[in-house]
Amino acid sequence: MCGIIGAIANVDIVPVLLKGLSRLEYRGYDSAGLVVVNDGLQRLRTTGRVSELGKLVIQQKACGLAGIAHTRWATHGEPSERNAHPHLSGEKSRIAVVHNGIIENHEAIRIRLKAKGFKFTSDTDTEVIAHLIAFKLQEEKDLFKAVCLSLAELQGAYAIAVMEEAHPERIVVARNGAPLLIGVGKNGNFVASDSSALLQSTRNIIYLEEGDVAELHSHNYRIVNCLHNQLGDIVERTIHESHLSSDAVELGPYAHFMQKEIFEQPSAVANTLEMVFNAQSISPNLFGNEAENIFSRVKNILIIACGTSYHAGLVARYWIESVAKMPCNVEIASEYRYRDSIADPNTLVVGISQSGETADTLAALNHAKKLGHHYSLAICNVPESALIRQTSLRFLTRAGPEIGVASTKAFTTQLASLLLLTVTLAKIHHLLSKDEERHIIGALRHLPVALQIALQVESQVKIWAKSFAKKRHALFLGRGVHYPIAMEGALKLKEISYIHAEAYAAGELKHGPLALVDNEMPVVAIAPNDQLLGKLKSNLQEVHARGGELYVFADVDAQIIESKNLHVIRLAEHTGLLSPILHTIPLQLLAYYVALERGTDVDKPRNLAKAVTVE
Ligand code: F6R
Repeated sequence: MCGIIGAIANVDIVPVLLKGLSRLEYRGYDSAGLVVVNDGLQRLRTTGRVSELGKLVIQQKACGLAGIAHTRWATHGEPSERNAHPHLSGEKSRIAVVHNGIIENHEAIRIRLKAKGFKFTSDTDTEVIAHLIAFKLQEEKDLFKAVCLSLAELQGAYAIAVMEEAHPERIVVARNGAPLLIGVGKNGNFVASDSSALLQSTRNIIYLEEGDVAELHSHNYRIVNCLHNQLGDIVERTIHESHLSSDAVELGPYAHFMQKEIFEQPSAVANTLEMVFNAQSISPNLFGNEAENIFSRVKNILIIACGTSYHAGLVARYWIESVAKMPCNVEIASEYRYRDSIADPNTLVVGISQSGETADTLAALNHAKKLGHHYSLAICNVPESALIRQTSLRFLTRAGPEIGVASTKAFTTQLASLLLLTVTLAKIHHLLSKDEERHIIGALRHLPVALQIALQVESQVKIWAKSFAKKRHALFLGRGVHYPIAMEGALKLKEISYIHAEAYAAGELKHGPLALVDNEMPVVAIAPNDQLLGKLKSNLQEVHARGGELYVFADVDAQIIESKNLHVIRLAEHTGLLSPILHTIPLQLLAYYVALERGTDVDKPRNLAKAVTVE
């Protein structure tokens, strides 16, 4: 999704803007731009990468003491230079705006402003903000007030940064439904949509809250909150020290962030489970102080999420129903939010999200609350995200920043957290003996090592990827708790290699998809040695007998023998309850190496964004 960085200082801030934009590239974008005040507003825009913008900076000698910059992921209007941000308005003193999010009532405002003589040069909703502020400035004269009055007319979720040609000594920024933070520096102040963009300048971060509008100068700032009052009251916000290491957002020895993040999984899972490793028993307090009280009241679970996080929820359903013996529903957030479902006050609603900013997940949790659900839990990777602030309980996956658009370490840490949730619920409802609890803690302690061992299949997967990359379609099969893992494998492959891939519960094959099977349709199967292995083997026979080519990820003791058109990679360990976590690894590697073979942009697949902050 779009990214914002802005800076105001006593030195040239263009290098800060470019570095910040490059750190925001992972969010996904299709154009980039910046504006600086340099004897008037100097605006540069490109549909190329941030590095292209860097070349324009050199060619056009862009420099200045204040500026705002943006990476755009198109929502309103095609990806093009004229739709790229910043957008300008005004005649005598122009203003410039960058914006993340969506203005829902942009059409009505556009009609009004056109009638007043404003000329639109783009198809974006953002340009409406620029003209609206310019219009308010005609009466109000003060940019800060003009911004506050304009925001009162905007509907939607957004974060913005605004500059005025005549007053380059300040930047005005605002947050409403999309993340925005201020960086407080020694020699300047900064604004960004993501703390990683500010690492080179400051670690002192203020996370703006809903309705906050702030004015930044090079040596001071002020924040007002306009949630209940158009012109707002001054508010104090805590300055947090960011502990994000720059290594966490740099590639290091890896070719891609996705590769780095796949290999970080042992440590990401170890960090997420650290509190359990050091304990003799699992404490409900890991989920919040109220957890024991709430968990003991709940009788069923409702999980809400999107994409990969939704797949984590699907795995958890098998665990929760079999170990904690509670009914568990899993819903796609974008569907749930518009459905009139029946609320049960004894339900724990669990929102799962890497970013904690996914618009559909946030809206679905709100919807659940409005329907009458009282208890909510967030499982999330970003401590300062909106999701974390929205729920009664929370558990942070400690995967570190995930930069690759395709989610990898966030998924396995979500699974580890959901297993912990399952065990905690089972314990509170007296379904777990001390011995069983000790056994599970032991298995969790072993998980990082087991993941490390699972990663050793890399060289074998690389060989498969060569023939796989020539195909146009693929089927993924799994049964039971490994069916959602097959879904995740198919999602990874399609999103980064652009090979069409679908997952089926293996038992469903003969009810339709078997018709697709021929020697051009590779079939990937997940074959753990569990109680469904015999059934799965029969399903594999059905494929084999029809000339399909099988690629099977089996447990070491699954006894599946290679033959013509039946390739097998074995995972070294058979880990019971934890098996879906381990079986994820080879599928991630397969998607990664197939994408490499096909030469796609692994970390920034076309059309996709990292955090989907729009509906
Ligand atoms: C796929 C992927 C997406 C996200 C989805 C939800 O690799 O990353 O499907 O899982 O957009 O995002 P979060 O987890 O941030 O809510």
